Amino acid sequence: MNLPRGQKPFVVGLAGLGTVGGGLVRLLEENAELTRLRAGRDIVVKRILVRDAAKAREVSPPADAELTTDAAALTDDPEIDALAELIGGIDQARALIDRALDKGKHVVTANKALLAEDGLALFKKAENNNLVLRCEAAVAGAIPIVQTMKESLTGNRVTSLLGILNGTSNYILSEMTTGNLDFDTALKQAQELGYAEADPSLDIDGHDAAHKLILLIRLAHGVDYPYATLPVSGIRGISVMDIRLAEEFGYHIKLIGRVREVADTRGGMSLEAGVFPALVHNRYLLARVNGVYNAIRVEANAAGSLFFHGRGAGALPTAGAALSDLVAAARGAPADNTGFARPDLPQAAVLPWEDGRSSFYVRLTVRDRPGVLRDLAGAMAAEEISVAQMIQKSGEGGIVPLVFMTHETTTRAMNKSLERMRDAGLLTEPAVCHRVL
Ligand code: NAP
Ligand code: HSE
Repeated sequence: MNLPRGQKPFVVGLAGLGTVGGGLVRLLEENAELTRLRAGRDIVVKRILVRDAAKAREVSPPADAELTTDAAALTDDPEIDALAELIGGIDQARALIDRALDKGKHVVTANKALLAEDGLALFKKAENNNLVLRCEAAVAGAIPIVQTMKESLTGNRVTSLLGILNGTSNYILSEMTTGNLDFDTALKQAQELGYAEADPSLDIDGHDAAHKLILLIRLAHGVDYPYATLPVSGIRGISVMDIRLAEEFGYHIKLIGRVREVADTRGGMSLEAGVFPALVHNRYLLARVNGVYNAIRVEANAAGSLFFHGRGAGALPTAGAALSDLVAAARGAPADNTGFARPDLPQAAVLPWEDGRSSFYVRLTVRDRPGVLRDLAGAMAAEEISVAQMIQKSGEGGIVPLVFMTHETTTRAMNKSLERMRDAGLLTEPAVCHRVL
C-alpha cells in the first residue's frame, strides 16, 4: 500500500527504557512496517528520558533517538507529538504528563497507580486541551479491556465485572498451588521476569489490582470510586495449607478484583467493589487462569457473559498495548478519554463492605475438646450463619484445624461471629477467612 506523500512521522518522546519502555522500542522496530500501514505514517522515538543515561541496557535506544535525564527535553520540544510515560511512580510521572498536556502533546501511559489515585484532573486537562490520554497498557497487560469498555461495550449496562488483575500475584499463587516454588522464590522469579512493580508490595498486597479495578469501575460505570475507600487485601497471608484445603473442597485460591451493582436500601443501585483473595470453584474458567495470565469476566445486560484472557504483565504484552494507543493517537483518534461525555465523573454510590454478601471459607484453629464444635457452630448460628460443609483435620498437641464453608451471609455477620469465637477464647490462632465465589 502506498501512503500519502508528505505524511510527517508521528514523533514520540519516550519516558522510561525499563521493562515496558524497552519492550516498546523493540516492538516499534519489529512491527515498524505494520505500524506505518495502520497509522498511515511512521511512528518514531526522538528522545528517551531515563534516570541514569550511563547505565548498561538490555535494549538499545533506536539509532536516531537520544537518551536524556531532562524531562523538559520531551515535554517542551515542539517537534514531539506524544509522550509515552513508562517511568511509573506518582509525583514525577504526574508532573511529566501534566506538563506534556500543557504543551499540547498526546499522552500514552501504563501508569495505573497515578491514574487511579490521582488521574481525574489529568483526564480533565486532556479533554479541555482536546488531547488523547490513553492507558490500554495500564490494565491487564495485553488484554484489550480499556478500548473494549470504552467502545465495544457502550451499548451495554455492565452489571458486574470481576477478574484476576495482577500477574505477579497470580504467578505466585499458581506456583504455590503446583508446589513448584514457595512464596518468596516465586516472587523473586516474577521480579526477574519483569512482571512485578518497582515496589512489589503493590502486587502482593493487592494495590496494583486495586488501581486497575478503579480504572475499570470508571470505564464500566462512568463514576469515580475514591481509591482510598476501596477495600483491598492481598496474598501475603495465603498459606500452602489453605491452598491444599481449598483444593479438597474443589477450589483454587485467586486474588480477585470485583465490582458489581447491588440494589441498596434506598431503592437505588450501589457499587460493591473490592480486591480480595477468594476461593474460585474449579468449574469456573477463572480458577484455571494460571501464571502471569489475567482474566476478566464481564456481565452486561445486552451481551450477557463475556470472558477476556491474556498475559497480564511483561515487556512485549504490555508494550503492544501501549503501541496500540500510539497508533490511535497517530491516526488522530478523538479525545474520548474516559469513554463518557463528561470528564468530571460523579462520585460512585458505594455499598459498605460489611454489607456485601458472600459464602465464606473459614479455617479455625481450636483445642480438640468435647463441645468445641458446638460452641463454634453456636457462634455462627447466633449471627444466623448456616454451615454448608465442614472438615476436621488431625492436629498436634491437642490443637486442630477445623474448616467451614458457609452459606451466603454478610461480611458483617461473619466478622461478628469470629469476634464471638475470639471473645469466648475458642481460637488458639487468628481465624483465616476468605470469600468463596
Ligand atoms: P522499570 O522496568 O522499573 O523501568 C522504569 C524506567 O523508567 C527505567 O528506564 C528508569 O530509568 C525510568 N525512570 C524511572 N523513574 C524515573 C525518573 N524519575 N526520571 C526519569 N526516568 C525514570 O518499570 P516498568 O516495569 O517498565 O514499568 C513502567 C510503568 O509501566 C509503571 O507505571 C508500571 O506500573 C507499568 N506497567 C508495567 C508492567 C510490567 O509488566 N512491567 C505492566 C503494565 C504496566 P533507568 O533505566 O535509568 O533506571
Ligand atoms: N505488576 C503488574 C502485574 C504489572 O504483575 O500485574 C502489570 O500491570
